Amino acid sequence: MSKIIIAIDGFSSTGKSTVAKQLAKNLNYIYVDTGAMYRAVAYFALENNLIGDGFFKEDDLVNRLEDIRITFKFNETAGFAEVYLNGENIEAAIRTLKISKYVSPVATLSAVRRKLVEQQQLMGKDKGIVMDGRDIGTVVFPEAELKIFMTASAETRAKRRYKELTDCGHELSYEDVLENVTTRDHIDSTREDSPLVKAEDAIEIDNSDLTIEEQLDTIVGLAEALI
Ligand code: C5P
Repeated sequence: MSKIIIAIDGFSSTGKSTVAKQLAKNLNYIYVDTGAMYRAVAYFALENNLIGDGFFKEDDLVNRLEDIRITFKFNETAGFAEVYLNGENIEAAIRTLKISKYVSPVATLSAVRRKLVEQQQLMGKDKGIVMDGRDIGTVVFPEAELKIFMTASAETRAKRRYKELTDCGHELSYEDVLENVTTRDHIDSTREDSPLVKAEDAIEIDNSDLTIEEQLDTIVGLAEALI
């Protein structure tokens, strides 16, 4: 059986990672959450006072990129690979609304993208990988055998993210989550370097009214036809 690369791109909170994780498990593939890598850089920037309310020391962050080492380690209990920054498990720490607020400005920097894309391409060099993000089918793996572009209405996405965050004990309002989702989509879609766009050969799935099982069935079917 041949191994392929599956690229899953789309707007914020479309449930890409939930489906991608399950898909990787079904196919016995590696799963890589590239959003976690950008979040890790935003976490580093916040921890080092390189970004905050009203300021962003872009040049200083770029100069510190060599100090950022992002790794993934499989967590048996969780059933997926968690993200580490310089050896520290930051999986939970990067899922806050605060990180969500600063991650998109950080992801506009070309030097940041170059570093992360290089690492992502290395992770996928032997194929057998499901990678989700914003530029996987367009920039990271333009030759990916299967490209999915996920969409859903902004309200559907904000509701999902709000539930996810409040279920984990975060205190925030639905309006804040909706605001974050729409602001991130705008920054991600309009940035100069690697904007979020649907690759020409990507298959679009609007999952507003689809269950995870239904999405999975569709994508597994598409993948199996190629393997
Ligand atoms: O997927 P997630 O919502 O965790 O991604 C967080 C942010 O990271 C996105 O809003 C986007 O700014 C950035 N990102 C990106 N390119 C990717 C993955 C994520 O620019 N491949």
